[in-house]
Amino acid sequence: MPLVPMTHFLPQAKEQGFAVGQFNINNLEFTQAITEAGMQEKSPLIFGVSEGAMRYMGIDYVVAMAKVAAEQSALPIALHLDHGSSFDVVMKCIRAGFSSVMFDGSHYPFEENIRLTKEVVKAAHAVGVSVEGELGTIGGVEDDVSVDESEAALAKPEEAIRFYEETGVDALAIAVGTAHGMYAGEPKIHFDIIKEVSSKIDVPIVLHGGSGVPDEAIEEAISQGVGKINVNTESQVACTEKVRELLAADGAMIDPRKYLGPAREAIKAVVVDKIKLFGSSNKA
Ligand code: 13P
Repeated sequence: MPLVPMTHFLPQAKEQGFAVGQFNINNLEFTQAITEAGMQEKSPLIFGVSEGAMRYMGIDYVVAMAKVAAEQSALPIALHLDHGSSFDVVMKCIRAGFSSVMFDGSHYPFEENIRLTKEVVKAAHAVGVSVEGELGTIGGVEDDVSVDESEAALAKPEEAIRFYEETGVDALAIAVGTAHGMYAGEPKIHFDIIKEVSSKIDVPIVLHGGSGVPDEAIEEAISQGVGKINVNTESQVACTEKVRELLAADGAMIDPRKYLGPAREAIKAVVVDKIKLFGSSNKA
């Protein structure tokens, strides 16, 4: 199957009350691990690619890997730019073959965010690419995006509803208390904001910072209208812990396949668990 926009599966997620995971890819092993997990669970998938990850892998390698994954797995897979920072980078990704983009205008004043997101939606929709917008500021560090927790601002429901109505995005990320990276304590998620916004818009809400959120909180968020959940850090932790463990156990190990293969299995295990938790098994 070719890469698909998120509109291929998000309306069904909203209707049936499950969420599709955005699993960020950082290299070939991440791409394979996530694809294998999706195949095992027969789940739709979203490959998230941050601008930093794109610089690391190279945009053409990213698109080529994603296309092979979608063709070989026959799963509906969206290749999605994560936190796109400008119209230019969004266009570059669409030209290269991305099927979905996020434009993160959350650091702009509200009206400017609406104006810029509208431009992205117009251009992306013209070529069948789905768009995620963001409102409020999500704390923590995600590659180039760094927001001090004290400056993270929750989304205002009435603004979120107007943002959706004016921009026509296909998924809406709103700051509801989660953050990128692992949490020191437990995140305080504002389910009331999710519920209020979700009941008034047609598209699912996106929960960023999915790593380290307790299972019950994820279930509650989905039941209130979250239909896309982003996970990166937990996969990275699983990968790196496995590599560390293997290299520590055998100082003479030099073949990267000997530690990256098991690391790939560790990432896959995380993704399988998340897919089950999000309820997207057998929804491909
Ligand atoms: P985590 O790294 O906290 O899982 O968040 C991922 C994310 O939200 C990507 O946009």
